[in-house]
Amino acid sequence: MIHKTEAEVAMMKEAALLVSKTLTEVAKMLKPGTTTLQVDKLCADFVKDHKAIPSFYQYRGYPFHICASVNDVVVHGFPNNTALKEGDIVSIDMGVILNGWHGDHAYTFIIGEVAPEVLQLVKITKESLYKGIEKAIVNNRVGDIAFAIQEHTERKHGYGVVRELVGHGLGRELHEDPQVPNYGKRGTGAKLKENLVLAIEPMINLGSKDVFTDEDGWTVRTRDGKPSVHFEHDVCVKRNKALILSDYSIIEAAEKANPDLNTSYY
Ligand code: MF3
Ligand code: CO
Repeated sequence: MIHKTEAEVAMMKEAALLVSKTLTEVAKMLKPGTTTLQVDKLCADFVKDHKAIPSFYQYRGYPFHICASVNDVVVHGFPNNTALKEGDIVSIDMGVILNGWHGDHAYTFIIGEVAPEVLQLVKITKESLYKGIEKAIVNNRVGDIAFAIQEHTERKHGYGVVRELVGHGLGRELHEDPQVPNYGKRGTGAKLKENLVLAIEPMINLGSKDVFTDEDGWTVRTRDGKPSVHFEHDVCVKRNKALILSDYSIIEAAEKANPDLNTSYY
């Protein structure tokens, strides 16, 4: 595992914040009728205008700059020409390389009115991310993060925790050690040391945990067709309290100011 210096953490914060700023622009533009290809273009342009590189593009052949995962799509959804509509939920996941350092985070937006159970799924998934982050402190283990997320979502609310995809270390590479599952046992796995940077990313299904990959080789969907929610933060392990490098507050402010987005759950 690669532990960063304070100067490197500061640079990673810049990268993470650029993703947050990009997702803030997304929060301003989303409305019924927006297509995820329009979102892809906005994100790619915004990142390039800020002297950074959209990191997902051509990563293992991935053909877009963002992942746009609508409703039953768990993650890695391809942006397309379908208009978003009232009642959709969409996770926008974006990665950048800024001055050689990766930022990688995601936020799920709700377009207009959705079923109460979907609103609750969004709320609980976001909460579970923070429950996991609380455990990202020195001398805890990866399993403590994993357990906290699974506890809040699966055991407390009966949701499906996706097993096939996990969070990860982040740094000069998009995916570094360790893997950070959203399920596991307390007190197991790698021990966390100061300045390990992690992308923690619960992927939580309203129904069963089972997923499959489309014939496009990327799009991951729930088997039962029920919705799935994805939130992701970049986090630096510290002694008493994890340092969150990305920033939801600017995204949330823009989301609250957009009448077409549903923020009634927080
Ligand atoms: N947040 C996702 C991950 O950590 C996004 C990767 S999408 C890809 O794996 F296109 F870059 F693969
Ligand atoms: Co990630």
